[in-house]
Amino acid sequence: MHLINGEPGALLAVGDRGLQYGDGLFETMPVQQGKALFLHRHLQRMRQGCRRLLIAEPNWTLFGAEAEQLAAQARQGVLKLIVTRGSGGRGYRLPNPATPTRIVSVHPATDYPAEFQQNGIHLHICRHRLPDNPPLAGIKHLNRLDQILARAEWQDPDIHEGLMLDSRDCVVEGTMSNVLIVQDGVVLTPPLLYSGVAGIARGLILELAEATQIPCRIEAFDLPQLLAADEVMVCNSVIGLWPVRSVVDRCWSVGPLTRRLMTLWQQRCRSELES
Ligand SMILES: Cc1ncc(COP(=O)(O)O)c(C=O)c1O
Repeated sequence: MHLINGEPGALLAVGDRGLQYGDGLFETMPVQQGKALFLHRHLQRMRQGCRRLLIAEPNWTLFGAEAEQLAAQARQGVLKLIVTRGSGGRGYRLPNPATPTRIVSVHPATDYPAEFQQNGIHLHICRHRLPDNPPLAGIKHLNRLDQILARAEWQDPDIHEGLMLDSRDCVVEGTMSNVLIVQDGVVLTPPLLYSGVAGIARGLILELAEATQIPCRIEAFDLPQLLAADEVMVCNSVIGLWPVRSVVDRCWSVGPLTRRLMTLWQQRCRSELES
């Protein structure tokens, strides 16, 4: 199911800059009981992304209503929102005027085994490094070639996510998730100043930790620090929070702070559904 600028259909103009240059932004969120979870936060991040990329802002009320319409129709699955700068301009120069393109689509949810939540997942360490790009750091823009190359590094179905480092050897994130570690009772997650996506789930988990007096800090760490950590977890809006069970030959069992954060996350999702 797709809506392009509110119209049913899946055909995009070939001159759309989302296709031509990856000139746009996207958001992905779960749909449960006909509701797109944390839709408002996703639209808010998209709005910030539009401002940073100088994309004319779409009609947010309309965009939100279209998202709610498809979520209500689908009942459950994964909702994806895309905004592009629109069509126009052969070349990089910004088209003037530019009318942004709104795309809403809904997809079946991936059926991840319950085992991932219960016992955790195995991580690959990606050889592909995330390049520094401070002007784009944090934004969920459409250019995902780094993640595609990183994800192409493994085919083993027993490996569920890849860890991505930057040129400083700092851990940035997973190919499709943010990373948190527990070190001496403190939850740490990287600052994402040079690369990475500032995830909605990461933001919510930091808020939940703060509200419940779980010590947490945004702080850079490298791979040896991650391997020495007491607990490691990854998160995104669709999977929620998954404990990490192993990175190469370093193994963990699910730790107490991971369990607490998973419970807080589930409660937060329930209250979002009821709101
Ligand atoms: C590269 C990358 N980093 C982080 C995330 C987590 O973002 P969110 O929590 O908003 O889903 C994603 C989600 O798809 C991602 O693709």
